[in-house]
Amino acid sequence: MKKRKMKKWPFVLVLLIIIGIGSYIGINNYLKKINSYSYKLKELGYSETQIDTLKKKLDDKQLDNILKRKYSKRIVEFIKEKYFIFSKLDDYLKYDKSIDVEKSYTDIVAIINVGTNNEFYQNSKETSVDLNELMLVNKFHNLTNDYKPTDLQELSNNYAYGTDQSLRKSAYDAFISMFESAKKENVTLIVNSSYRPYSEQEQIYSDYGRWYGEEEADKIAARPGYSEHQTGYALDIQSYNTNRNNFEESDAFKWLDSNAYKYGFILRYPKGKEYLTGYDYESWHFRYVGKKAAKYIKENNITYDEYYAYFIEKK
Ligand code: DAL
Ligand code: ZN
Repeated sequence: MKKRKMKKWPFVLVLLIIIGIGSYIGINNYLKKINSYSYKLKELGYSETQIDTLKKKLDDKQLDNILKRKYSKRIVEFIKEKYFIFSKLDDYLKYDKSIDVEKSYTDIVAIINVGTNNEFYQNSKETSVDLNELMLVNKFHNLTNDYKPTDLQELSNNYAYGTDQSLRKSAYDAFISMFESAKKENVTLIVNSSYRPYSEQEQIYSDYGRWYGEEEADKIAARPGYSEHQTGYALDIQSYNTNRNNFEESDAFKWLDSNAYKYGFILRYPKGKEYLTGYDYESWHFRYVGKKAAKYIKENNITYDEYYAYFIEKK
């Protein structure tokens, strides 16, 4: 039988097509790889772990920004921080370079977020009162001298010392509910100071200034327009036989420390956070911020200034 001669060209054609497709895929993969963030970051000098962190924490626009910079371990360390805000990256780096004493990345992020790298009362701005219980009043955010909340509710002598004690409706209701719960556990809460108009704060600050000098006065009292008491959401709490010096040892303080957040109150000037709040520790000063913020602040051990910078101002 005569052998049929097979035609070669179909095989050659198939082979060429396979080679073509193979090369196309290969080139494509190669281009994809060299254009990927992982490849580019590696080229810059970042390790696999650092690349994972960067890719997990940043979006494409932010990664593009990182690619324009030189390799920096400090960048990754800042990005790892829980309250890192990308738009402040240059400020973190600049501040870190400018300080003589070493500070943790966590502290630097907190300082820059809150703005305490600036002098207190410098470049302060009028706060957004529309935020109600979430409004920030500190040494950089003030109220106008005529600001007065419209829904103040007076606290009777059942709850407070003296006359003229009032809080905004939401804070008032929350305080009454907290007061009742504390009472059931034999803890007495007494409001010592609550809403204070601008003029009263003016008096307090100037008295302290005369007695102790400006530097000391600034640690214990807000300048007029800068006191949370003017918001109607702040209150100073005492109990029977307590004063500012011993309140921390009282059952009332211990109860508040564990429970106030459940009613939407936070300890506003905590111990160890003076570099952020600008005030000495005040075991008696509580601020109503609502239950959600209070719970977060308590559980994460941050100040309201930090909470505001990260969760409200950043948005
Ligand atoms: N003592 C607090 C800081 C105030 O004066 O508002
Ligand atoms: Zn106070």
